[in-house]
Amino acid sequence: MIDLTGKKGLILGVGNQRSIAWAMAEQFHQQGAELGLTYLTDPKGRFEANVRKLGEQVGSSFIHECDVADDHSIQEMADSLKAKWDRLDFLIHSLAYADQQDLQIPFSSTSREGFTKAHQISAYSLMPLTAHMLPLMKEAGGASILSISFIGSVLAVPNYNVMGPAKASLESSMRYLARELGPENIRANVISAGAIRTISASGIKNFSEMLRVAGEHSAMKRTATQEEVGKAAVFLCSDAASAITGQVIYVDCGYSMMAN
Ligand SMILES: NC(=O)c1ccc[n+]([C@@H]2O[C@H](COP(=O)([O-])OP(=O)(O)OC[C@H]3O[C@@H](n4cnc5c(N)ncnc54)[C@H](O)[C@@H]3O)[C@@H](O)[C@H]2O)c1
Repeated sequence: MIDLTGKKGLILGVGNQRSIAWAMAEQFHQQGAELGLTYLTDPKGRFEANVRKLGEQVGSSFIHECDVADDHSIQEMADSLKAKWDRLDFLIHSLAYADQQDLQIPFSSTSREGFTKAHQISAYSLMPLTAHMLPLMKEAGGASILSISFIGSVLAVPNYNVMGPAKASLESSMRYLARELGPENIRANVISAGAIRTISASGIKNFSEMLRVAGEHSAMKRTATQEEVGKAAVFLCSDAASAITGQVIYVDCGYSMMAN
């Protein structure tokens, strides 16, 4: 058991009950952490409703809109959090986006706008979020930043297309944050999760096939669950991982190290 009593963490990326961020929130809550949650506003307000439901379940003390594609939205959310909390022990960035169209066409046809958008939302957003949260993380005497990647960052995975370079950028950005913030006792890591059926995953062509291959070709002959990613996240954000920074940790039942 890891005790996170007295720790405060902000989780971005809950869309619905299948979201990896949802499972992470449940795991952090089970270990006693106080949680802040954000949602992306969608036309039917489904994400907000889901996040509020989760917020009740985990006793969240902060719930706010945040569109990481919009600097004002990040600023507003950060100001609101700073008015409420005096410290931040962990920041979870569990979000990504690519235009559907750019996931369906040959990679060489990726549009300039689509490439930029995927990188801005999925990778760049980690920096302004970190910058805004830095004063609160310093108040805590150190903190942990965590994002979620996929093996498509280092291998050319069928149909992952523009998300591959976006995840490579995310992983590299995390290393530079780890280097910059290490002296402040702020750690930055990425979990590279195996394929899991979520809303984001459904945007990838032939995802069911990807899931089948991931299960059959992994060392453990199955795929990882959201809950297992959540448990690894708790570990990485806890004192048990106090010397781990700048790392990509694979939570994929050993898929990434198999030769075939
Ligand atoms: N599902 C998988 O197979 C898998 C595998 C490895 C890594 N990942 C990564 O895990 C993370 C979480 O994805 P998920 O699978 O839980 O899917 P998900 O669709 O449940 O979560 C993605 C979240 O990104 C949020 N988001 C998108 N654009 C945003 C924006 N502009 N501002 C704020 N939030 C925004 C959405 O609201 C959603 O909550 C992503 O980074 C994804 O790439 C997923």
